[in-house]
Amino acid sequence: MVVPSNLPRLGILALDKMKTGWIFILSYMCFLIPLHQAQLPSANISDLSFKNMDFAMSLYRKISSYHDKNIFFSPLSISTSFTALLLASDGVTYEELLKGLNLKQLEKANQPELIPRLFQLLHENITQSGSLKLDEGMALFVHPEFEVAKNFENQIKSFFDADIKTVNFTDTKGSVKFINEYIKKKTEDKVTEIISNLDAETQLMLINTIFFQGAWELPFNPNFTQSYPFYIDNYNVVQVPMMIQEDKFYMMDDVPLGAKVLKLPYKKGVSMLILLPNKGMDYTVIDDEITASRFLTWVRELQRTKLEVNMPRFKMEQSYSLHHLLPDMGMPSIFSNSANLTKLSKDGGIKVSEVLHKAVIEVDETGTTAAAATAIGITPYSLPRIFTINRPFFFFIYHEDTNTLLFMGRVIDPTQN
Ligand SMILES: *[C@@H]1O[C@H](CO)[C@@H](O)[C@H](O)[C@H]1NC(C)=O
Ligand SMILES: *[C@@H]1O[C@H](CO)[C@@H](O)[C@H](O)[C@H]1NC(C)=O
Ligand SMILES: *[C@@H]1O[C@H](CO)[C@@H](O)[C@H](O)[C@H]1NC(C)=O
Ligand SMILES: *[C@@H]1O[C@H](CO)[C@@H](O)[C@H](O)[C@H]1NC(C)=O
Ligand SMILES: *[C@@H]1O[C@H](CO)[C@@H](O)[C@H](O)[C@H]1NC(C)=O
Repeated sequence: MVVPSNLPRLGILALDKMKTGWIFILSYMCFLIPLHQAQLPSANISDLSFKNMDFAMSLYRKISSYHDKNIFFSPLSISTSFTALLLASDGVTYEELLKGLNLKQLEKANQPELIPRLFQLLHENITQSGSLKLDEGMALFVHPEFEVAKNFENQIKSFFDADIKTVNFTDTKGSVKFINEYIKKKTEDKVTEIISNLDAETQLMLINTIFFQGAWELPFNPNFTQSYPFYIDNYNVVQVPMMIQEDKFYMMDDVPLGAKVLKLPYKKGVSMLILLPNKGMDYTVIDDEITASRFLTWVRELQRTKLEVNMPRFKMEQSYSLHHLLPDMGMPSIFSNSANLTKLSKDGGIKVSEVLHKAVIEVDETGTTAAAATAIGITPYSLPRIFTINRPFFFFIYHEDTNTLLFMGRVIDPTQN
């Protein structure tokens, strides 16, 4: 087989930033140099979000098998970027993506656009909840000499409302500036200097962004926040700013798993679910037990209880090179010289070089609007139970109507950014 000497490459980078927060996610893909229809699914968005969650949990397990530190990423951003790639690919590459993303069962031979259509409906559903501050965007930056297939361009415009811009990547400095300005504008100046360098051979870059701004439905009073020990393991203790509040919360006890679950709602239909392993329980054992069906059981079995919640304030930033992880999850071909991206361009010789995902989260007392009246309705007798998050924990930020996982993570040491 003749291997093109100058293969095109593609990178994705996602950056999210959340401040009680806001989260911004950016995924970018750069295609360098040129190289090559399938059929899609019939189902509803509940089916899709379940499949997405299953994929997210597998990806989480893969990441946690490589990283023993804090973890944070956006499953929705990754699934969405790769669905755009699904539209670009054919043959073996397409089949691998479909299976790897766990979407094979949704495919319907006679409805080739069903999967992107479901994504479109899911995104519409999530963002329709009135004043929920969740903005998503996709943009395609293309070298002037690279020919993007008209059909692909139309599809990502119609399903993802993608902007398409021409950028001469040969001028790397100018391109970096142009793309950073674009993102800065898109995110209302919240995210700047996303990209610092570019390969001069880049032919195309696909960027996907998610920006989430959530205010707690029950904000914490910063006056009560105080320094508390957090037990990383048997030997390491750090001091963290612990936020404290007493109210009625939804929680459940997963006895077989050895962990407790607490829901901290944001306003407008999005919540954070905290999974706290019981004292003495090894969190790496729980790592392997987190699945989509387990998640749905937690959500179903939550019960309203009076609680004192002690929750560390934290922020962190994580980056992942998914091109090292995804081949192991059954998707090697898109990163190889046999990548079939013919639906993206007839130019040929193109493959994905990098998939970078960068995510930032900041969790504090208030979020943007601090005023939700709360902390009332506590009966004075009967002391509340205490839910103290003072050891490694997991968290999931999800859209409740559709059970869509927007973000997920693991905090081992809240003082490590
Ligand atoms: C979605 O489809 C599944 C079967 O594929 C069905 O069980 C479920 O009730 C449907 N949900 C909605 C909201 O229509
Ligand atoms: C891509 O896949 C299609 C469908 O299987 C096939 O016809 C085509 O030859 C493939 N192209 C390359 C470059 O592998
Ligand atoms: C979003 O999807 C859920 C679950 O399928 C459904 O119950 C809800 O009515 C939908 N909301 C909107 C605004 O479409
Ligand atoms: C891209 O930029 C390079 C260097 O700045 C220039 O030589 C080349 O002509 C440009 N290509 C196009 C198609 O504008
Ligand atoms: C925090 O304490 C200050 C000073 O005592 C007070 O003015 C403020 O109202 C308090 N904030 C809240 C949210 O209770």
